[in-house]
Amino acid sequence: MNKAIERARPEIKIKPEMKIIRNPDEMQALANRLREKGLVIGFVPTMGYLHEGHASLLRTARQQSDAVVLSIFVNPTQFAPNEDLDKYPRDMKRDEKIARQEGTDYIFYPEASTMYVPGYQTYVNVEELPRSHCGRTRPTHFRGVATVCTKLFNIVLPHRAFFGQKDYQQAAVIKRMVKDLNMNLEIMVLPTVREADGLAMSSRNVYLQPEERKQAVCLRESLEIAKDMVRKGETEAQKIVAAMRRHIESKPKARVDYVSIADTETLAELETITGEAVALVAVYFGKTRLIDNEVLKAG
Ligand code: PAJ
Repeated sequence: MNKAIERARPEIKIKPEMKIIRNPDEMQALANRLREKGLVIGFVPTMGYLHEGHASLLRTARQQSDAVVLSIFVNPTQFAPNEDLDKYPRDMKRDEKIARQEGTDYIFYPEASTMYVPGYQTYVNVEELPRSHCGRTRPTHFRGVATVCTKLFNIVLPHRAFFGQKDYQQAAVIKRMVKDLNMNLEIMVLPTVREADGLAMSSRNVYLQPEERKQAVCLRESLEIAKDMVRKGETEAQKIVAAMRRHIESKPKARVDYVSIADTETLAELETITGEAVALVAVYFGKTRLIDNEVLKAG
């Protein structure tokens, strides 16, 4: 048994001893033992190449759990054949260092062949939510995300799993799935962590050329425009969307995928903002697609 989980809380942590587990059965057996001991398991699923956004999830998980499990798995089923599965950035040594710094107890780091065994044929489909927004350009993406998260939840057996608001639609899909399938865990969604100029941190930001990187701050700026208009009393979604679009399109390297104002839960497009809404943007810079969002509050 890993001694790290026997210490009670981070304040009295001396030197975290972190274990890397590659085998799903071993991970599940360990999770069962943690649960038998009455420990609260906090889980942060990732695809690695960790940045401050991931670190903030780990930090909160550390505060809210007895045992923190981080998974690093570049999940093939959420990438389409034309996407960046093969060149998705990886740096396990650095990830280990960050994980250790944040007090992670276990890294679950499986191989694709043990997650998707020969003959594999079971997928989780959330019906409506994945169709809009990112689902339009990535029609099979959320099926892969829902499937791998279900598998990871079944292996890690967390009491709580921590997701970032940056991937708003992903968090909405996972919350819907957990509710619909009576999964026995709580989904926590934490704020987006940003670079100094406001660009949302993402493992994919490394793909940006210097000029694209400079212009990429337009996603954040367009969301600020939306917030500002709502604060000044604008409720007509189309007007706000048009202003956001104009701002993004003023950047020569940017190509809009979508700009949307939607219901915070169903992601249905809104005409009028009453109460809460979410503004969502997706923009291409070359082949790199960046996303961001912000919750708007009218009145
Ligand atoms: P990945 O892109 O590695 O992100 C892992 C988690 O970190 C997600 O919950 C994501 O929303 C969160 N995250 C990413 N950037 C963030 C930022 N700037 N601020 C706060 N949180 C941020 O999302 C995935 O992996 C995968 O789809 C996964 C859920 C692991 C399933 O394969």
